Order: sequence, then C-alpha cells, then structure tokens
Amino acid sequence: MECEDFTPGSGRLDPRAALRSDAPSLDLNGTWRFRLSPTAGAAEDFAAPGYDDSGWDELPVPAHWPLHGHGSPAYTNVAYPFPIDPPHVPAENPTGDHRRAFDLPDGWTGGRLRFDGVESYAKVWLNGHLLGFTTGSRLPAEFDAGPWLKPGRNVLAVRVHQWSAASYLEDQDMWWLPGIFREVTLTRSSADVFVHAGFAGGRGTLSFEGDGLLSVPELGISGLEPGVEITAEVEPWTAETPRLYEAVVTTAEESVRVRVGFRTIGIEDGVLLANGRPLLFKGVNRHEFHPSHGRAVPYATMREDVLLMKRHNINAVRTSHYPPHPDFLHLCDELGLWVIDECDLETHGFTQVGWRRNPSDDPRWEEAYLDRMRRTVERDKNHPSVVMWSLGNEAGVGRNLAAMAAWTRERDPSRPIHYEGDRSCADVDVYSRMYASHAEVEAIGKGVEDPLDDPELDARRRRMPFLQCEYAHAMGNGPGGLAEYQELFERYPRLAGGFIWEWIDHGLAHPTLGYAYGGDYGEPVHDGNFVIDGLVFPDRTPSPGLLDLKKVYEPVAFSFSASSVTVRSTYGFRDLSHLSFSGEVEAEGVPRAAFPLAVPAGGGEVKLPAFPAEEGERWLTVRAVLAGDEPWADAGHEVAWAQVPLTAGGTPYQGTDDLSGTPYRPVPPAGSVIPAEGSALERASEGPATEGAAAFLTPATYGEEIEVGRATFDPVTGRLTRLFGLDVDGPALEFWRAPIDNDRYSGAEWRWRQLGLDRLTHRVDAVETGDGLVVRTRVAPAATDLGMRVTYRWIAVGEGLELVVDVEPDGEWSEPIPRLGVAMSLPGRFDRVTWFGRGPGEAYPDTGMATRVGRWSASIDELQTPYVYPQENGQRADVRWAELTGGGGPGVRVAGDPVFGLTARRWSTADLDRATHLPALVPGERVHVNLDLAQHGVGTAACGPGTLPRYELTARPATLRLRFDPA
Ligand code: GAL
Repeated sequence: MECEDFTPGSGRLDPRAALRSDAPSLDLNGTWRFRLSPTAGAAEDFAAPGYDDSGWDELPVPAHWPLHGHGSPAYTNVAYPFPIDPPHVPAENPTGDHRRAFDLPDGWTGGRLRFDGVESYAKVWLNGHLLGFTTGSRLPAEFDAGPWLKPGRNVLAVRVHQWSAASYLEDQDMWWLPGIFREVTLTRSSADVFVHAGFAGGRGTLSFEGDGLLSVPELGISGLEPGVEITAEVEPWTAETPRLYEAVVTTAEESVRVRVGFRTIGIEDGVLLANGRPLLFKGVNRHEFHPSHGRAVPYATMREDVLLMKRHNINAVRTSHYPPHPDFLHLCDELGLWVIDECDLETHGFTQVGWRRNPSDDPRWEEAYLDRMRRTVERDKNHPSVVMWSLGNEAGVGRNLAAMAAWTRERDPSRPIHYEGDRSCADVDVYSRMYASHAEVEAIGKGVEDPLDDPELDARRRRMPFLQCEYAHAMGNGPGGLAEYQELFERYPRLAGGFIWEWIDHGLAHPTLGYAYGGDYGEPVHDGNFVIDGLVFPDRTPSPGLLDLKKVYEPVAFSFSASSVTVRSTYGFRDLSHLSFSGEVEAEGVPRAAFPLAVPAGGGEVKLPAFPAEEGERWLTVRAVLAGDEPWADAGHEVAWAQVPLTAGGTPYQGTDDLSGTPYRPVPPAGSVIPAEGSALERASEGPATEGAAAFLTPATYGEEIEVGRATFDPVTGRLTRLFGLDVDGPALEFWRAPIDNDRYSGAEWRWRQLGLDRLTHRVDAVETGDGLVVRTRVAPAATDLGMRVTYRWIAVGEGLELVVDVEPDGEWSEPIPRLGVAMSLPGRFDRVTWFGRGPGEAYPDTGMATRVGRWSASIDELQTPYVYPQENGQRADVRWAELTGGGGPGVRVAGDPVFGLTARRWSTADLDRATHLPALVPGERVHVNLDLAQHGVGTAACGPGTLPRYELTARPATLRLRFDPA
C-alpha cells in the first residue's frame, strides 16, 4: 500500500514562511464533491477531469468528514486505534475522495497549490495529472500547479486516507478526525523571507534572509538588502507590550508584508530571559478544537481563544501538540502571547509495547521527522510570539529527535529548543517536565533535583531553566494546587513557569448526549472522558478552574498594613500606569464606602482612608482594572484584586489566620480540616457541644410526632419532617459526593465504594426529648465495622432552631473521606439562593481562589457547574448564612457557626453520581441541599499529583453547628 511508505511526501515544494502577499491567490475552499470508501484501494479514475461525480455527496472544505455524517470520530489518548506494526495500517482505511472544479481568472499563469492541513495522507491530482502526496496533518504542503493549469475550468482531485504510516507519528491525545481541515489555496506567491529582529541594549537589530528589499516605513528603513544588519530605535515586542512594525519585502514578482516584533530570547545562569529580563510563562496548552468543527477552527473562534486567554491573565501558549492554524500565531503576535510552537509529532502509543520499534529511533523515519520539523520552523519562523521550538510530544527518545534538534539549531539559533520526553535533555535547551509534584518543582527550583547518571549531561541540565510544559490537569472539577505552584514559580528564578493541561474540553456537540467523549461513537478502543480536561467548556464558557487561574496568574500583588495597601507589580515588561485602582468596603456584603487609590506606576505603598469603628463583618476589597481600552479588553476590565477583613476598629486585619498559607484565603475555608481558631471543628475536640441539655431528656414516645419549636420530627427515626410548615426530609449525615474525575482516576472512588461510603445506613440508637431533641445514631456502611457515631441536637431558639451535629469516628479510618456534612431536601418550588459568604462561583478546599466574600444571589440552576461528565460541583464555600426561597411560599434561612459549605440541586447526589452526560440530569420533585462542614480537596490526581495533605479530609471528631430560621 502506498500510504504505508516511510517517505513523508512526494512532489512537494520546499517549505517556506506563511506570508501575507499581494500576489494573486484563489480561494479553493467551499463546497466540494465527496465520496467515502471503507478501504484505500478504490480505483483512481475519479482524478480524471471528465469523471462524473454528480452522484457524490457534497462536503464543505475545510472540514473533517466524520463531522458531516460520513463515518464517525474516535478518541484515544495514548493507544493507537490500530495494531502496532509500523508502517502498516489496517485494511479498513476510511478514504475520502474529494473533487472540485474551479475557473482560472483570465490571464492567470503559474502558481502553487497550497494545503494548510490534511489528516493524514493526501494524494493530489490537477486536471488528471498526479502532483504528488503529502503527510504531516497539521503542516502545510505546496505543489507546483503551474505546468498543469489551463485557462478556464480546472479540476482538482484529492484522495485522503485516514490511516497511513504517518498516523504512527500523530498519536496525540485527541479525536482522530480525517479530512481536509484547513484551507486550500492556489497562490502565485512564492516568496520566502526570514526576518531576524532582536532587541538588546535598548535598541532593535534587523536583518533578513530571502530575495528582494525590505522596508519598514514607520522606522524610516527602506531598501534593506538581505544579509545586512542594521540597528534602530524601537520599542521591543513582549507579550505584555506586543509592539509590531509593518515591514514589506518587495521582489520583482510580489510584495510580502511581515509584522516585525523586536525581541531577543536568551538563557543566562539558568534563567530564561526575554530582552534581558526574566520570562515567566503563565501558560496553557491549546489544542485546536471546536465542538462542531473539530480542528477546522473558524477565525473568530481562534480570536476568541486569544481574547479569553488575555482576559484571564494568561500570557503563554504551548501549541500542543502540533503547529496551530497560521492565523492563530498572527493573533498571538498582535494581541501578545508567548508561544512554544510544537512540531506535529507524537508516538506515545509505543509506550504500550515498551517503546519497541518506536519511530523516533529508527533511521527509516528520519526523513519524516526532519520534514515535519522543517515545515514547522519554515512556516512559523517570522512570528515574534514564537519564542521556543518544541520537537513534539511524548515520542520517546532517539536519533531522529536529535536530528530534528540539530537541524533546528542550525536553521534558527535564536530560539531555544524544547522537548519533554527525554529526561537527559541531551538535545534541548530547557529542562521540561509534565505533572511534576510541587515538591519536585521546588527541588528543581533550588537546583537540588535528583542527578542524572551521566555527570556531563547532569551538569548541563542543571544550567537549564525549568518549565512545566504541562501541569495542573484541568479535568472536571479542579484543578487544585494552582496557587502553590505559582508561589514556587515566582520564588525561584530557575523556574520559568508552566502551561496548564489544557485549554478546552474536546466535547463534540451531540444530538442526545449534549457533548460526546470517547466511547460515545462505539469505538472499541477509547479513553472515555479523558478528552474533557480543559479550562473552558466545549462552548468556551470559562470553567471555575479558569477563573481561579486568572486570580493565581494576576500580575499585581497587594498586601495590607493597618493603614495602607502596598501594591507590587509582577509584570515582567510594563508598569502599572495602564491600570486604575480603587477600594470598596462592604458590611455583611452591603456596600458602605468606595474610593479611588492613587497607585504610582511603579507600585508602592498607598495610604488607605480611615474607616469608622463598627461591629459586624466588614471586608475591604481593592481592585485593579484597565484604565483605558486595550486591544483585548475594554476599560474597566478587572485584572487583579484582593480582600481583607476590617477589624471592629476599622483597620485591615493583621492577624495570621490565613490557614491555607496562600494569600487567597483570608478566612478559614469551610472544607479545611485545619481547625480555625474557635471554629466548630476545634471546639469539637474540646468536648461535647451542647452541655446540659441531655440531663432533662426522656425517650420519645412512639406514634406521636415530636415538636421542637416550629419543627416536627419523626419519633422513630428522629428525622426532621416539617420545618416552618414546610415538607422537608431532615438533615442526615452524608460522606458521599458524586466522584469528581480526580477521585475516579486516582482510585479514591474505588476505595470509597469498597468502604461503602456511597451506601451509608443510619441506625437510630436513641431519640430523646427534653429542652429540645437529641437523636443518637450510628452511621455506617454495610459489611464493615467502621462507622461514625453521630448525635443531632435540636433546640428551638426564637422562631428558629439550632442544630448541632457531633460526629465521632468509630473504628480505624485510614482513607480520607469525600465530604462531612448533612444532606436534606426541600420542596421543589425553591428556586433561589441568596447567601453571604464566598462567591459568586464554586469553591473547594484547594480551589475557589476566584471567589470573594460578599452577598450573592443565584437561581438553583445557576449554582450548577455544567461539567461535561457530571460530578460533584457547585459548592459555595464559607457561607455564613443562606436564604433559600422561591415559588411564592415561605423561605428558609440557614446560618453557620461560623460557616458551612452549601450545595443545592434539583437532583440527588445519587442521580449526579449515576449520570454520565449532562442531559441525564433531570430536575425532580425536590431540591436537594448539602450543608457541609468540610469536603476533601480536589487535587489533580486524574493526571498528576493528588490533593495536597493540607486539603485532605480525614475522619476525625467534628461538630457542625447550624441555625434554621424562617425567611
Ligand atoms: C500528557 C499528554 C497530553 C495529555 C495529558 C493527559 O501526558 O502530553 O497530551 O494526554 O497527558 O490529559
């Protein structure tokens, strides 16, 4: 089979830069004729110009045919969906034949046929003449069309095989989506230009390789010849200040425009530098993805990605794991993002056979490897945003990678080379890891990482800057641990930051499932929802993880004294003059005072106004917003903020009650197991909570309902049945949460289910009345001797009721538990929650940095976070009080002492646990509410480190105090 060739292509022209040229070009996108065959070998007669394709279907180009009703998508992460026997591919090889006729404009001669991306093997005919073939799906290929073009009507025919030898090199973690998915153009441009624009010592340097003469009118430069270097007074390019200058290179045939950014990337003393200053990546990994179009991403969507990134304080992108559409890099140049441009290469599936026959070390593949790297570098070499070349991802080690690095270094010594897959770093310039733990990152930051066996390589690696090309796996609810990584990145100069895995959930729009993931198309081999691990949902709605990331990446830091706020810039390349600062005080979430803050451009200490003495909970919030419009956001866009409580005396709180150790947690998080001073948890360890009441208790009488104030209880179960006249299903201890992805993939879910935490039984040992009601229970799963002794104490206070729940573990609990709190249900008419606590979004012990203390209101539907794979979500943390209302009837107010975690849903935890896609969550008759003392942290264990010890929830004596009132 010819598609089983090691050779990457034939008949193609040398790769060159993607340039904006004034040479004529013809857009060949649009509606093509299309026919799908199940195997590769159908007759090639369709290439003949006279072939009758009237019986074929129509297909848009660019597109992936499985997203247009021909065959179906398939998802694998690591595994090859075909037997590993390179270079062979299955006989079942979906093959798409494409045809398009076009009319050549009068007087047109010559030209190149350009394909910007075809997955995975394309054979091309023009007017029946075979031009050649190409592989390298996310890379451009050009064929000389000139000799075969004819005046008037021309016919282009392209045969695309889904599988080819090249598929072994394209095992990236994503959908397998064949097709002509980027543009097809006939162009008369043939120019190639390599502009070298550096910035050092406050001046720009400029030269270029290629034909013609270069001019930069804005700088008064004209007629610059190739190979001549000049210097000029310029403003440098950085991602924070993306200053571009329009250059034009004119040859006899055409003029090409290149937007030049002057910048120099360097490494000194193990520190990554841009223009001589430390460069810290606050990055994300971006796959190209659109829920309806796959990797045929519309321009507006690419732009939306860049805007969203900029608005969330992201400054860098790794183009995982292939060069993106060329327009994406133009957007990065223009709006400002540092880019690691990665070659289209991954052979990860060979790991499943011990890397045997890995192409990376087989000389027969060398040409293919070099071809991919050349096409990457040549296409993208003029982008100031591209600051590093990456050889590819997870392709093991071997000589072909070394050959790629050597060629790249020779061709473009101005950019460091990246590749994560070789721990020895033999061929690269930066030390890169994925999913290293906080401890390992810290060791590397300090330069005390474990040595390599080879002392020379070890010494070389120790001189390299370090980055995490992937970290903080953003799958489902999470990622946890972000703030702790950032703290390390900012502390150690060797650490150049990292790139979150990953930007977007690759959920494909599906008529009944909402968004589809692996297995939803009946793939025999797949990796389920591992393709749903992004910071934005498939429709690009930011997830709570992205909002947290924005907070963690914010470029301004605030600290408070008793009378001032100190503002520090963490920008690398600009000052604070584009921001305007203000402060606001709220008392129990109600605005009290607002004032501007005059912060110097360089930052510094700014005096705060005097605030009056006042009892009650007050918070001062300071904010930095854009003072004027930026190309990526309008004036007023919030860039950074901080909160501090005010003491009764009116001064910012100076204590150290910041229990998580991060600046984002001015109050003890509800889910923390570190007892806050005076918190219910701490008081629990001092002894029983409601002393005295027990002395007057008598057993409840069977058959008669028990009344405590305005509450009614079942005398047998002790459960609350009516509260303020409402039909309720009383609060009962709950450990379970619908497992989040990190619980599932780390094995915690399995262990929890073995323990039976999802099927607690509630034995009632005593129901006693007196001053109030005491219900003594033992809560435990079947088939184990582990349990919890739980005592509920109810007392009527005024119109309301107080509940104290004491929990005492019984037996040896060695596993962390998912949650500790009570669950209850209310009538379905409740539809709104107003609360004072952290909001507006969800928060868990190690997430929720984006949330702030305030008064918030949301409908119950709005409280849900639509994770594509349903799982625990939507907890509002550190809630002081919440009012549940709606449906025209009376409401309920719940207050914590001091705080609780609140979850309210129209379905039960069991429903959420069972659901595998969002449409399975159907509102029921009741509103299900969880009032939690704590939850286990979120971590990133689906891929990477788990919950940090300080965010683990262990079984221990604890007390939850709540008060219910009519609202
Ligand atoms: C990494 C890989 C990514 C992705 C991630 C898990 O190993 O480079 O492509 O698969 O794991 O989501």
